[in-house]
Amino acid sequence: MAEPAIKTTELVRTYGATNALRGVSLSVEKGEVVGLLGPNGAGKTTLIKILTGLILPTSGAAFVDGIDVTDEPIRVKERIGYLPEVTAMYGAMTAGEFLRFMGGFYPIDVEARLDMLSERFRLEELMDSRISILSKGMARRVALARAVINDPHILFLDEPTTGLDPLTRATMHELVVDLQSEGKTILLCTHDLTEADKLCDRVAIIDDGRVLVTGAPGELKRRIEKDQRVEVTFRGEVPDLKGARRVGPRDFAVRVLRGEEEDVRKAVKKAKAQIVETRLLYPSLERVFTHYVLDRKE
Ligand SMILES: Nc1ncnc2c1ncn2[C@@H]1O[C@H](COP(=O)(O)OP(=O)(O)OP(=O)(O)O)[C@@H](O)[C@H]1O
Ligand SMILES: [Mg+2]
Repeated sequence: MAEPAIKTTELVRTYGATNALRGVSLSVEKGEVVGLLGPNGAGKTTLIKILTGLILPTSGAAFVDGIDVTDEPIRVKERIGYLPEVTAMYGAMTAGEFLRFMGGFYPIDVEARLDMLSERFRLEELMDSRISILSKGMARRVALARAVINDPHILFLDEPTTGLDPLTRATMHELVVDLQSEGKTILLCTHDLTEADKLCDRVAIIDDGRVLVTGAPGELKRRIEKDQRVEVTFRGEVPDLKGARRVGPRDFAVRVLRGEEEDVRKAVKKAKAQIVETRLLYPSLERVFTHYVLDRKE
């Protein structure tokens, strides 16, 4: 089998007493789009920062394009593109000045590359605008153009669409799909499970510094089909039910295995509460996420 584009083995990273990564082993094949999913603080950004050579692991190893990121961070940086979670761009520069400046660090024909990117990313009108006045979506597009200025084969995108309106998000999705069809390898973090389902060949669900599961979205959905659940929403007094949680000002909900709704019904009746809705939870990627991240803790 060909060498993976990205590979980590037992990566550990601590920040003082915080264990951000507790032994992450992950492999991404060339040309694959892999999504990192996980709650806030799971360790996604930490993993990406190690892979892009921004921070060092405490222990374990990370390889990008077969190169050890700890030993040869510069060689890795030449080969990758990185869209950080929070983009720090020079606000006083225009978008054009910024992209020319960043492109100048690479052995490329900057003007030719910029012409191509500005057309493809629809940046023509932004090129003479100061970065500080760009809207979030415009700035994100400029940041993505910066990430691919050197035409890298491997891309790290940390929440590329967070905070974008639906249309701008769709534009970002198109750009990711285009990059994938060019054969790029993409590792992206997202909280948008619909986005992950649409864009990713595989996802890795991370929580508390560990990979809980990896697989194609469809495969993960099939895996949890057998424990299909029902969500019962009710209003009024909270019955004595394990796992009941507030879902609205007056509403509570509980998720139980299919076939166990009767017990919920009885408990709700006993508490003199009312059932508002009973909903079958189809195996969506959201359901997969809940299964691995939430149900595990209940
Ligand atoms: N520079 C730092 N100093 C100390 N702790 C840090 C630092 N960066 C991250 N952490 C901690 O490491 C853990 C993982 O953080 P990380 O940013 O990797 O999470 P994440 O999965 O990207 O979360 P989010 O979805 O909110 O972006 C958290 O507990 C966080 O507080
Ligand atoms: Mg993050």
